[in-house]
Amino acid sequence: MSMLMKAIVAERAGDAGVLKVAELERPVPGPTEVLVRVHATSVNPHDCKTRARGRSAYNDEALPLVLGFDVSGVVEAVGSGVTILAPGDEVFGFPKFPHHARAYAEYVCGPARHFAPKPAGMDHIRAAGLPLAGLTAWQALVDTAQVRAGRRVLVHAAAGGVGHLAVQIAKARGAVVIGTARSEKHAFLRQLGADQLIDYTQEEFDAVVSDVDVVLDTLGGDVTSRSLTILREGGVVVTIIPPRLDGPPLEGDLPTRAGTHVKWMLVEPDGAALRELATLVDAGKLRVELDSVFPLTEMPEAHRRMETGRATGKVAIRVVPSASAGS
Ligand SMILES: NC(=O)c1ccc[n+]([C@@H]2O[C@H](COP(=O)([O-])OP(=O)(O)OC[C@H]3O[C@@H](n4cnc5c(N)ncnc54)[C@H](OP(=O)(O)O)[C@@H]3O)[C@@H](O)[C@H]2O)c1
Repeated sequence: MSMLMKAIVAERAGDAGVLKVAELERPVPGPTEVLVRVHATSVNPHDCKTRARGRSAYNDEALPLVLGFDVSGVVEAVGSGVTILAPGDEVFGFPKFPHHARAYAEYVCGPARHFAPKPAGMDHIRAAGLPLAGLTAWQALVDTAQVRAGRRVLVHAAAGGVGHLAVQIAKARGAVVIGTARSEKHAFLRQLGADQLIDYTQEEFDAVVSDVDVVLDTLGGDVTSRSLTILREGGVVVTIIPPRLDGPPLEGDLPTRAGTHVKWMLVEPDGAALRELATLVDAGKLRVELDSVFPLTEMPEAHRRMETGRATGKVAIRVVPSASAGS
């Protein structure tokens, strides 16, 4: 028996107006997959870029498509062979990437190990802001740069979706955290643990900061090369902005001046790291700031907000109408 669900389809390449409500077949979990009733999702810049260009930079799937990666919800059914999750479990995750997760929908299927138990003290709306952005920050700072106590870490766009989580993860590991953001966001970032803040509209970060061990580059362009100039010997710039095909080579791990390095990193689904993020949340060391919350049917407005480039924290989407943003 076929069952329908509500979803948001990007019908063709274009502005946020191409996002339309549709009734689609509910997906069916295959072997090792779970079917999740989505309570909330969130918008990431990659969703907007895919909608605008008509294609993701990381797969060949063409529009029309259901976009969206982040999921917080409840396991509805499990496919053959799944032992780690069961119907009724509250989970969060970022499944399937680099393929589309199709999370702008009431139901999503994905590999069981791309999900983890939702942090107990966090509601679905906030938990939906954590997977893609939180895994990006974790994989950049912990897996790639091995941030540890005493390291000086600079986070660019510290108030953004990735940045505000990166500030907290670096702080939880005992780093000295420097962030760039407009001055009206400095009080918020101090609450998250930032030690030094630079208003990038007033001063150049490379004129006022030096001796940095790790830079998380969320901006690209000349910020990447200028970030290299503030590193200590042995330091690393981890950039999450893809190198331009027509730009200078930036692949893997290029040695640069005095033993410094720049590494380009693309986030991956990772249930084990999601559990680490949940542990930080439960310990009171990591929270998700909500810039705004929209119902699923107002996805065009959510994309327009994301595309201002001014979000503080995450743009979240309520899929189940009663899902709250209470904690
Ligand atoms: N490679 C990967 O795996 C990966 C994963 C996730 C994201 N990304 C990419 O990383 C980028 C950031 O993602 P996000 O989700 O954090 O974006 P976001 O939430 O849209 O970032 C918004 C923040 O950026 C700040 N900002 C804008 N220009 C700035 C500048 N010149 N200096 C300092 N802050 C600035 C804004 O602060 P103000 O209001 O103060 O300007 C705002 O708080 C996007 O391009 C995204 O596609 C890559």
